[in-house]
Amino acid sequence: MSDDGLPTGVERRTFDGRERLSTQGPTVYGEPADADGWRAWDASRSKLGGMLELGMDTGLVGGETVLYLGAAAGTTVSHVSDFAGPTYAVEFAPRPVRDLVGVAEDRDNLFPLLKDARDPESYAHVVESDVDCLVMDVATRGQATVAIRNRQFLADDGRLLMAVKARSEDVTADPDDVFDEVLADLESAYEILETARLDRFHADHLGIVARPK
Ligand SMILES: C[S@@+](CC[C@H](N)C(=O)[O-])C[C@H]1O[C@@H](n2cnc3c(N)ncnc32)[C@H](O)[C@@H]1O
Repeated sequence: MSDDGLPTGVERRTFDGRERLSTQGPTVYGEPADADGWRAWDASRSKLGGMLELGMDTGLVGGETVLYLGAAAGTTVSHVSDFAGPTYAVEFAPRPVRDLVGVAEDRDNLFPLLKDARDPESYAHVVESDVDCLVMDVATRGQATVAIRNRQFLADDGRLLMAVKARSEDVTADPDDVFDEVLADLESAYEILETARLDRFHADHLGIVARPK
C-alpha cells in the first residue's frame, strides 16, 4: 500500500491538468492515458473508484485475489485487474459479457464468468476459495442476500467492498431507510467496518467496507 492509502498499483497522476486516480494497463473505455501507460480511473463511472477517491479504508494493498460481482462491460474490473492478482468477474447479462471478454483478452489475470451472482454454486467450481476481496456492484433487488450467499468465497480476514444502489431495492423509499435495511441484513454474516454515501460520484449509492463474521 502507498502512503496515501491507495493500493500498490493505483496512483494519483495528472491528466489534462487534473490529478486523478489511475492504474497501469491497456485502455478500455476511452479514458485518457499517459506516456507511461497509466490510465485515468473515472470515479464517476466506478463505485469502487468513488470509494477510493473518498478515502475509504478498503484494505486493498495490491496483488490480492478478487471476486467481482456485477462486472458489466469491465470498466471498473479492468482497473482492478491492473493492480490485483487473479480477478474473477461475474456478470449475468450476455451483451456486456461480450465486451468483458474483449477486455480480458489483454489481461492474463482477468476471468469473465457469464453467471448469476444470486447462484454462487454455479461458479463455485471455477472461483478459488479464500479470495481476499469480494467487490459487489450488482444493481439488483436483494443486494444483501447476494453478499451473504457469496460470503463462502471470502477468506476469514478478507474484505467485502460493496456499493448499494438504493433504487434497485425500492424506487420509492428514502435511500437512508433502504441503506439501514441492507446494513441490518448484512450483519448476519459481516461486521460493518465503514460506510460512506457515494453521492459525490453516484447518486443514492452507499459504499460499504465489511469483513466476514
Ligand atoms: C451498475 S452495473 C455494474 C457496473 C460495473 N461494476 C462497473 O463499474 O464497470 C450493475 C451490473 O450488475 C449486473 N447484474 C445485476 N444482477 C446481476 C446478477 N444477479 N448476477 C450478475 N450480474 C448482475 C447488471 O447486468 C449490470 O451489468
